[in-house]
Amino acid sequence: MVNSRIPGLKDLTLEERREIVAANSPLESADFAAWDPATALTLDQADHMIENVVGVLPIPVGFAANFTINGRDVLVPMATEEPSVVAAASNAARIARASGGFTTSSSDPIMRAQIQLVDVADPEAARLRLFEARDELIATANEQDPMLVTLGGGVRDIEVQLVEARTQTYVVLHLIVDVRDAMGANAVNTMAEALAERVGEIAQGRAILRILSNKADLRLARARAVFSAEQLGGEHIVDDIVHAAALAEADPYRAATHNKGATNGIIAVVLATGNDTRAVEAGIHSHAVRDGRYSSLTKFEKDANGDLVASLEVPMAVGLVGGATKVHPGAQAAVKMLGVTTASELAEVIAAVGLAQNVAGLRVLATEGVQRGHMSLHARNVAVSAGATTPEEITAVATRMVSEKAVRAERAAEILEELRRDGR
Ligand code: MEV
Repeated sequence: MVNSRIPGLKDLTLEERREIVAANSPLESADFAAWDPATALTLDQADHMIENVVGVLPIPVGFAANFTINGRDVLVPMATEEPSVVAAASNAARIARASGGFTTSSSDPIMRAQIQLVDVADPEAARLRLFEARDELIATANEQDPMLVTLGGGVRDIEVQLVEARTQTYVVLHLIVDVRDAMGANAVNTMAEALAERVGEIAQGRAILRILSNKADLRLARARAVFSAEQLGGEHIVDDIVHAAALAEADPYRAATHNKGATNGIIAVVLATGNDTRAVEAGIHSHAVRDGRYSSLTKFEKDANGDLVASLEVPMAVGLVGGATKVHPGAQAAVKMLGVTTASELAEVIAAVGLAQNVAGLRVLATEGVQRGHMSLHARNVAVSAGATTPEEITAVATRMVSEKAVRAERAAEILEELRRDGR
């Protein structure tokens, strides 16, 4: 029985943490090799993934604890170079857990492909001609991916948009495709390319672009949770978080940072599972500006008990089959840790993590500010750069610098020299 509630994590060794993960997720001890520098993605494997390979770039992989999502406990793998992100997500998840955790939902995994037509003399009539050919176009598109159709996916519909642009009105055909457990780019691009010529014929124009849209507005993942005022630090903190969220709704300068808080969590899971981080970010940002002005992705309210109710709804184009998710051993281990079997389940976990991360960020901003937490971690890095080697030395140098409010390389070197001179 998986229990994601794991107190005292920061005091455990890496080996102890692995044992806990193995006991509380589908991962087995052998699976951790996928994240060991010596046995992780090999140069040969990397050489098959992209071009002109000269090496690999290791990024730390941690896990967020305390998540309960739709009543199921789950440990969440996160790949990130940013300190505090994993701890912050785990903290917010602990608070949400006390009120039942996260409740999530998602739309069907529907992506769009666009076919752009130029030089159409009668765009309005062309639009109707394309609709008249709907069944033929859907049948041809589905023939490109019989396996997807067997799995219950395939083209659901077409849309035709007339886009007034700089020099002419473009006719743009959208293929609306249920891509099931794929991210979907390959499936919909193949369909769009196969249809382009015929679509051009029907519209009596010329097809240029045939490509998916990253504005995945039909593939939404949602998460909501309640955070008790008491656990957040009092009702005044709830009020201040709601004020912070209101500023993000109204002010694009703040919205960008607010949304960066949520994407800290979202992208860490997207990356850990080998998914396309740029596709997800493009989807998220197009969603944030869907009403014509860039705004926040999350909503915050105070409920009748004075507790914080937070929710998030975002496009989430992630898959479990194909791409790096299938070939990267670390991504496979991450998917296994999550125990998810569909792309929609993965998308919902990611939404829950994004929400937790956003709440954690706002709570810190509404209380002590970000610098205290960042400073202690930064101080550890400064201690290491100044030559501290053992965990004891690093902690001693960092703690002294933080208490003296002097986190600087020269001070780290002085403290280190003092410690070593005194034989400590
Ligand atoms: C830092 O990576 C993220 C925050 O700036 C998010 C926010 O301001 O809400 C703390």
